[in-house]
Order: sequence, then C-alpha cells, then structure tokens
Amino acid sequence: MRTGVVARAPGRVNIIGEHTDYNGGYVLPTVLPRETIVELERRDDDLVTIYSTALSSTEASRYRLGDEEPVGDWTDYVRGVTQALGRRHPLGGFDARIESTVPVGRGLASSAALTVAVQRALRERFSLALDDLDLAHIAQGVENDFVGARVGIMDPLAASLGREGEALFVDTRDLTIRRVPIPPGIELVVIDSGSAHRHATGEYNRRRAECEEAAERLGVQQLRDITESDLRRISVLPDTLARRARHVVTENTRVLEAVAALEAEDAERLGSLLNASHRSLRDNFQVSTDAIDALVERLRRQSGVLGARITGGGFGGAVLAVALEGAGRAAADGALDGRRAHQDVVIFAPGGTTARRSASRNGGRPKPFGGVLFGGFECSTHLLRSGRRLDLIASTRHDELARRDYRRLRDLGIHTARDGVRWTLVEPAPGRYDFSSARPMVAAALEAGVRVIWDLLHFGWPDHADPMDRDFPERFGEYAERFAELLRDEGDDAPAVCPVNEISFLSFAGGEAGFFNPFLHARGDDFKAQLVRASTTACARIRSVHPHARLIHVDPVIHVVARPDRPQDVEAAENHRQAQFHAWDMIAGRRHPELGGRPEYLDVIGVNYYVHNQWYYPGGHGSMISPSSPRSRPLHQLLLDVHQRYGRPMFIAETGIEDEARPAWLAYVGHEVRAALRAGVDLQGICLYPVVNHPGWEDDRHCHNGLWDYADDEGVRPIYVPLAREIERQRRAFQELGEEEPVENTEALLRGLDEIGASIAEKTEDSRS
Ligand code: GLA
Repeated sequence: MRTGVVARAPGRVNIIGEHTDYNGGYVLPTVLPRETIVELERRDDDLVTIYSTALSSTEASRYRLGDEEPVGDWTDYVRGVTQALGRRHPLGGFDARIESTVPVGRGLASSAALTVAVQRALRERFSLALDDLDLAHIAQGVENDFVGARVGIMDPLAASLGREGEALFVDTRDLTIRRVPIPPGIELVVIDSGSAHRHATGEYNRRRAECEEAAERLGVQQLRDITESDLRRISVLPDTLARRARHVVTENTRVLEAVAALEAEDAERLGSLLNASHRSLRDNFQVSTDAIDALVERLRRQSGVLGARITGGGFGGAVLAVALEGAGRAAADGALDGRRAHQDVVIFAPGGTTARRSASRNGGRPKPFGGVLFGGFECSTHLLRSGRRLDLIASTRHDELARRDYRRLRDLGIHTARDGVRWTLVEPAPGRYDFSSARPMVAAALEAGVRVIWDLLHFGWPDHADPMDRDFPERFGEYAERFAELLRDEGDDAPAVCPVNEISFLSFAGGEAGFFNPFLHARGDDFKAQLVRASTTACARIRSVHPHARLIHVDPVIHVVARPDRPQDVEAAENHRQAQFHAWDMIAGRRHPELGGRPEYLDVIGVNYYVHNQWYYPGGHGSMISPSSPRSRPLHQLLLDVHQRYGRPMFIAETGIEDEARPAWLAYVGHEVRAALRAGVDLQGICLYPVVNHPGWEDDRHCHNGLWDYADDEGVRPIYVPLAREIERQRRAFQELGEEEPVENTEALLRGLDEIGASIAEKTEDSRS
C-alpha cells in the first residue's frame, strides 16, 4: 500500500481585474473546479523524481536537490519550488506523481496550481513552518526568478487562499483580502479559445514594463496611484502608454463595482462590467486576439449570457462568460457552433443554484457549508461498560495535531469539518468550566479557514452529570451557551453547532437496549425526551449568543422491514422504521412540543449512513439487508424521505467503510447523492467519517476507515491514496453542471458492497466499534 501524502491546489478564473496585480491594483479571481494533485513519497536519498500523468510527459524527470536549473519544460516549476524551499528548510528527496486537470497555458493559472500544490505536499511531508501567504509569495518568486515570467501575485494567492463558492477580492498593494460569496443562480462559463499563451515569452513582460514606464512618467509609484478623477493626466503620455494606463485605472474601478454587484446579487451589472473589461483589454491593453474577440462576441449573443471577456494574461487563453443559471451549456454550444471538439469548456455555479435553495423551506438563507466533501473527526467520549472512558480526539492525537489536521483537510480542498467539544473535559467539576481543550482547536480551524460543525455531546457527559436528572438539560444548556460565547470571542462569525449527536441511536442503545452508556434498559423514551430537552435548551442558549448560528441535528437514516417469511412483523418493523424520525420531529416541535422543540431549531439535518443501516426486523446477527437485495432501499430514496418530511437543507453527516472498500463505498454514496440532488433534495455535502483512522471503541483495534492514518513521529499522517483519488473523481462528478452522469455499473458496485457489508457486520456486530 502506498503511504504518501497528497495535496492539491485549484486553477483559477479571474472574474475581473486583469493586469492590475503588478500595478498594485485590485483583482477578483475565483477557484476553478479544476485542480493539480500531487502525490508525494519520501526517498532516502536527495533525488527528486517527477512523474506526470497529464502534463504531456511519459517519462519521469529526475534531478538532485541543490542542482536545480531551468530545463525549459513544466518541471521547472517543481525545480523552482525545491530550490526556493531548500534554501530555507531542510528537504529530502522524494518521488512525486502529478496529475492536473487545469488546462495549461490557457489563462487559468495552471502554473500557480502546480507550484502551490507541490509546496503544500512538501509542507506536509517535511513539516515545514510555512503559512498560506508564504506559499503564494514563494510561488510568485519561482515564476519571476526561476522561470522568468514577471507575473503578479494574483494566481498563487487564488490557488493558496481561494475557496469554492467565493470570489477573492485582493488589494494587491497591501494584500488585504476579502472573501465575497458568489450568489446562487450565476453560472460561469469558461471556454478555452484553443490557442495557448506563454508568459515567459515577450508580450506579457513587455506590458508590465510599459505600465512601469507609464507610472514613472506620471510620477507615481504604481499605476494604482492614479484614479479615475485624474484620468486627464494620462493624456500627456505617448499613445501606447496612455492606453495601458487607462486600462489599469478603469479596470480597478470595475473590480470595486463588481464586488458591489456580487454583494447586491446583481448579475446583470456584473455581466456589463465584464463586457467593459473586454473592450478595455482589447483596445487599450491590447492583449486580445481576433479569434478571442470573435468568440466573446458569439458568446454575448447567446440567450442567458450577461457578459463575456478574455480572462487571464491574454494573447490567447480562455474566455469567461457570466450566464444565468441553466443557460451556460447551451450558450457554450451555441458560441462554439460545432467547433467544440477540440476545446475545453468548464461550466459551474460557484454559489449553487437557486433551484436548490428554494427546495428547502428555510430557503433564502445562504448555503450553509462550502464544498461537497467534508471531513469528520471521530470525537466520541462515551464510557465503556468496563468503566474506561474513551476520548477519540486524544487517542487519534487530533487535539495535539489540530492545526495540521485542519490544514491537511484544506490542502485537499475540504473546507467543512465535523469535530467535537469534550464536555467531559470542559466541566471538570459541576459549574466549573475550562475550555483549554477546545479553544486551540477552534482557533486552529479558523486559522486554516475550515468551517467546523461542533458536536457538544458525542455520546459522553461528565461523570458528575446524570443524563436522567431533571437538571441535566439546563446544565447542558449552560455549557452550550459558554461554548457559543467562546466561538464569538474567537471571532467565528458563522458558527455551526450540533448539540446532541445521534439522539435516536443513543437513546435506543443506551436507554432501551442497555449495551451503551448509560446502560439503561427499557427507558428509551424517557432518555430520548431528556436528550431532546437538552438539545432544545442548547439551541435556545446558542441562538441567544448567535442569532444566526446554524443548528445541526444528526441521526442515522435506516431502513427496517419484516422478513419475507414473517408477515406478522410488518407493523412492528414499520414502527421501528418510523422511529428514526422521532427525534427530528421533537426538535421541530411536531411531536411532544412540551420538550421545547421549535420549527426553527430543526435548521440543518445531518443523516448518517453506513452499509449496515438496513436490516430485517428485529435486527441482530445476520439481519443486514444486503445492498443488492431488492428489499434494500436505495440511499437516494432514504434521503428523499427525509427531505419530503422536513424540507430542510441536509447533508450526509457520517459515512465510510473499512479497508479497501473505501473508494467503492464513496463512489456508491456519491452516485446516490447525485440522484437525490436531481430529485430535488437540498443536499449540501458528504462528510467522510471518520476522516482519520481510529482505534476501535471496544477493542482498540486499528480501524482503517479514514482518509488519513495514525500520525508518525513527525506528525505526518499517511493518506490512503485510493480514497484521495476517489475524492477527486467525486468532486469532478459534482462540480460540473449539465454534464450527464457517467453510467456507473451500479449492479456490480452493489454486489461488491454485499460482500464487504457482510464482513463488516461480522466485525462490528452490535458494538459499532
Ligand atoms: C497572469 C499573471 C497574473 C496577472 C494576469 C493578468 O495570469 O500570472 O499575475 O497579471 O496574468 O491579470
């Protein structure tokens, strides 16, 4: 098994703000759903070997660390990176496998994606103390000094700091950054014009020199210092320089207006700014070509297109159009008119679709979480029957490695996580609070730009609290409110909290069947009522601190039927199946409203799904319904059931499997989730759970169910490469709108899962270890 590290970085498309970055001006790029992925394994010597699957080379390139010289091909970006990093940090040799879907030389920043992805992988492998801004500066230095292209900082910044769904507004003078959410309903259409550019050759560098000369003649440090109000001064310049300056000055204004347009959700305004930008790039900056002008014109004439322009450095490259939701595909086809065969077209809706937003009854609120794939850290703190208390955050060393763990997620393009606060540690004695176990984790997540859904009670509570006591809900509420205050103090302006994890499972396993803490029998209903009261109290307390906090309620979705030969069980099986909804019903105040539930508390629904979530009544050994059985209910149907019942935004809050089955399982879940999306379910994402391998609950066995493994002495967690690859495949399947779902062989997939499911059921019978 390969045990390397994997990192990725996206290409970018610049929405507006072209040739402003090296003039100290403004830019507004967003990440492209195309990326460069680097798999890296350490060697014992100081050799570097680079093998690429997509960057037009069949043989590996080799060189020795310290001997970096430009050789004139794409590997120069890697050579430049190891030279720059090697001067400051001890590196060792490595084998790198590089794969990229960012079109090269098309104005989509393939080189920044490469230099940032390589640095991310090296940072992880050699534990380098570099922050994300360092990566951008180093990447720019590699281009400027090693490759010889005098490019600005925009592209590496977008690759290092950009996140899906947002435009990155950058003032390149002082590197002030603002993340501007892209509203739903806008599609971006990126069409490769078919002709490549190359910055290291003359024209780009010449433009830059012209801008510098214009600034000098105008007596300013950079063209950024000229504003629209002193445009007249420009007219004293020779014609060419005046044109260059006029472009930069007006383009800066257009960027500011584009930010305002995005904030006002004014797509038409955004479109006309793109049109104006193109005219200026064509006539003043003179970086367009006839072929690109013609493509831009054709695009503009298509229905639903609001504006179009050349994007990137110019002299070839790509064209960007802003279109209304649903119009992008036909517009691209119309503009290309049969020429499509050779050209790459990327169509995506960074802010999601309005259709999806209106599918949920609390529509109108922003998309709660970024990205399609999330990562969940197992955080259970329950007590075993033996009296031993688990602390999975500690036993996976996630407490100690939180910063690196969040960064690992982020460097793989995952911006949303589930994690836990350990009440057992936070309240060591009744009424005494100590958040030192949680605060650094909150700070680390904010620093990495990963949004966390915090579980407040993941199966454990302090020894001095009795969940069946009358005052338990209030005590839990108090703790929840204090944690909400901590989030506020740490500057989390978009808090997301899951008060009580899996109320249904916990009340059944711990209150009814007695095999889980607090080991009660036949008191499932009372325990559930207590947990619901605790949860609703926490909801109220959290919202008193953060009126807009997202409240997440997670439970498994299950399917239970009578065995074919036992029709007498039909009703009991159905009652059992219905019970999966009771906790959510109560949180929403639809059932037992005296427990404090309210419709607005059921804000986002998290559903957990594993291969053994379907069984024949009454359950127990050998009762699992195998995935390929006609009695099994496809996951997308289970999701649709929950959607129809509640109409809330949803996500898969836990899913995973062990060992080699991991990629196949994710492929299955992804396939089903897309089917649910097509059926109108407001599904926000899939949380890989756990994202880090952990010791089994009961037996400490090393479960290989995560994406990353136990950390080594240097804090490096080897990644499970086949799952990392499947994640990329899934991401692509979700990202591009309008593409037909590739036909997956669902039958074969399901039969494969049957076997796996059976063996997992054996291993984990009743213990959910
Ligand atoms: C290229 C460069 C950027 C920027 C753009 C033009 O992409 O890498 O720094 O100058 O061209 O806006």
